[in-house]
Amino acid sequence: DYLEVNWDVTAAQKDGYPHFMIKEIHEQPTAITRTITPRIKDSLPYFEDDNIPDSFFEDISDITVVACGTAMYAGMVGKALLKNKFGIPVSVEIASEFRYEQPVLTDRSMVIFVSQSGETIDTLEALRLANKYTKKTLSIVNVKGSTIARESNYVLYTHAGPEIAVASTKAYTVQVASFYLIGCKLGLVSGRMTKEEAKTFIENLQEVPNLIESVITQAPEIEQLTKRMTNATNAFYIGRGLDYALSMEGALKLKEISYIHAEAYAAGELKHGTLALIVSGVPVIVLATQMDVYDKTVSNLQEVKAREAVVIAIGFEGDTSLEKYADHVIYIPRTDKYLAPLMAVLPLQLLAYYAALTRGCDV
Ligand code: M6R
Repeated sequence: DYLEVNWDVTAAQKDGYPHFMIKEIHEQPTAITRTITPRIKDSLPYFEDDNIPDSFFEDISDITVVACGTAMYAGMVGKALLKNKFGIPVSVEIASEFRYEQPVLTDRSMVIFVSQSGETIDTLEALRLANKYTKKTLSIVNVKGSTIARESNYVLYTHAGPEIAVASTKAYTVQVASFYLIGCKLGLVSGRMTKEEAKTFIENLQEVPNLIESVITQAPEIEQLTKRMTNATNAFYIGRGLDYALSMEGALKLKEISYIHAEAYAAGELKHGTLALIVSGVPVIVLATQMDVYDKTVSNLQEVKAREAVVIAIGFEGDTSLEKYADHVIYIPRTDKYLAPLMAVLPLQLLAYYAALTRGCDV
């Protein structure tokens, strides 16, 4: 037996970019295309080449997503999708907690493990525990032949190529993209989604790589914006629904490489104490892509603005009303509300990268 590793040496070089992180940010459209294309046939999710039968997705009572860090935050977006679009009970567990707790799983529980490396020990031990309860374990892994991939019942490899930067970027987007494919398959198999709905959703997903390119072209403006963050010691990321799920990854990225303390908050929760920390000059990144809660988010934006925060809003193109309240607005192309995180994550990654550079940190 042999295992073919389809990475070559050029993928592990900086290719003219100053840092691996920015190179990998730029690689995201290609990484998403490579991850989703082999899993789409006639605009529908297709896992036959991964040897995952449809029966694996049948009769699921609940889903638990287990992972660490960025991979866990990708799971947060997956949860918001699976729960809100398909009505499936989903919980996201931190692997280092899950592995020492008493799991509440049955043989109808699906447990999804997300890991770029496929070797994170807490995630691996959590998988070994879950394997005692259910045969429905699935991993979303980037490294072929890694331990988590080998020990889960099924594996969906992401095709991001090697991620060299410690700060995950492309690994996150392909993990999120994988959740959309899984969600669609679950929706179809369970009858919660029609073929027509699935096709429209998948076709929108296929558009994402092109749309991301247009977000990346805003990098110079985003770099300028980070000058407003140079002296910050605290920053906040707020949003509702999928925007909240995404804000956790945005805050982690900023903390990790710029050493600015950052917190993600469900926008509606801010007033229950934490608003006290929003004082003059504190950067608040407001994610406003979820139209069903848009007015609520904008009212939270106004609350932080009233406390003289520096507000950077992220919204859909054409939503100029945000400019009335925010200091700066970064626009992303309009898309399906569930797909918005795949695009809104780009400005968050770029903000973190340039904030780190501006502060002289070693990216
Ligand atoms: O290899 P894994 O995805 O299992 O690693 C889990 C985390 O350590 C990782 O996602 C980490 O949070 C990111 N690299 C941070 O950017």
